Amino acid sequence: MKHSAGSPAPSAEIVQAAAILASGGLVAFPTETVYGLGADAEDPAAVARIYQAKGRPNDHPVIVHLAPGADLDYWSSDIPPAARQLVAAFWPGPLTLILQRNKHIPDAVSGGQDTVGLRCPSHPVAIALLSAFKGGKGGVAAPSANKFGNVSPTTAQHVRDEFGDEPLLGAVLDGGASQVGIESTILDLSRLATRGPVLLRPGHISAQQIADVIGLLPGLPDAAAPRASGTLESHYAPHTPVLMLERERLLDSVAQLAARGKRVALIVHTLAAPAGPHLTLPATPAGYAYGLYAALREMDQSGADLILVETPPQQADWLGVNDRLRRAVFGSSGIMEALLRS
Ligand code: TXA
Ligand code: MG
Repeated sequence: MKHSAGSPAPSAEIVQAAAILASGGLVAFPTETVYGLGADAEDPAAVARIYQAKGRPNDHPVIVHLAPGADLDYWSSDIPPAARQLVAAFWPGPLTLILQRNKHIPDAVSGGQDTVGLRCPSHPVAIALLSAFKGGKGGVAAPSANKFGNVSPTTAQHVRDEFGDEPLLGAVLDGGASQVGIESTILDLSRLATRGPVLLRPGHISAQQIADVIGLLPGLPDAAAPRASGTLESHYAPHTPVLMLERERLLDSVAQLAARGKRVALIVHTLAAPAGPHLTLPATPAGYAYGLYAALREMDQSGADLILVETPPQQADWLGVNDRLRRAVFGSSGIMEALLRS
């Protein structure tokens, strides 16, 4: 395989993973946000295998991952200058852009919509894979590498826990723990002229950072916004119910539940946790996001009846974290009362 001068030759593992993708197989790979479950974006049968492995409805669009320097015009059309400014500012990095899709991009990756989600991840293993696949000219369709509705994986072990013996999964590349820890910011630029930029999913790259580059503050999605599975209410949920409580109420609630013989697992960031399963996350948005999904997984496995999370600050830079927690909590209302009654 040819590689450009200056970039190191891909490892045997990367070459093999790129070959699996090229033959229609699935490869799980690390990104700086979460691990992805990848397939050749231009091979509808390969993309269908992603849906099959994840148990995900096949009308949900998936993000197409591109190598650095990829040709945006190959994948999308009517690209506004704002998109190119954001690419220059944030790629490779945790920002997904929704653009008008080029006609030849298969329906399978766009969920039948006339748009496509594009992102160039910054993780070196992701870049190596994307650069090796079709000589850097391909696109790898990849949702997060978890079963539909589960917490996204931030380590290769999480991926193995999700897919263990899944025969459709050709390889799992291990790139260590994902540095960002929550999924990319998704910005819809496909209706820029009529609705302006729309923030479909908050993430590490904030609305303000986007505004600083394009001079427009992204709005929030309205009813006409495209469906995004990451925006379903009950997403990112562990199997154990999750509740958020203010620090003032948290320890009292733990004591009440303990008095009823209930086991509680705690995720805190300022409180000193009492005995029992607990994790303390850093009290910064980036540090918290980095540890959040692993913490939810670990507490999910602790055998507790309930996971209680100390409510993080309700500030703009905590938006991504609060968004993921709100979805993890969805459906748990009334659980406290039920546990105290039973
Ligand atoms: O950080 C990330 O974005 C990770 C890593 C693997 O790159 N990927 C990820 O993919 O979170 P997934 O499938 O779990 O979430 C992608 C979100 C979904 O909510 C999907 O509906 C939305 O992106 N999406 C993809 N293409 C879209 C489109 N054309 N229009 C609207 N939403 C789109
Ligand atoms: Mg996902």
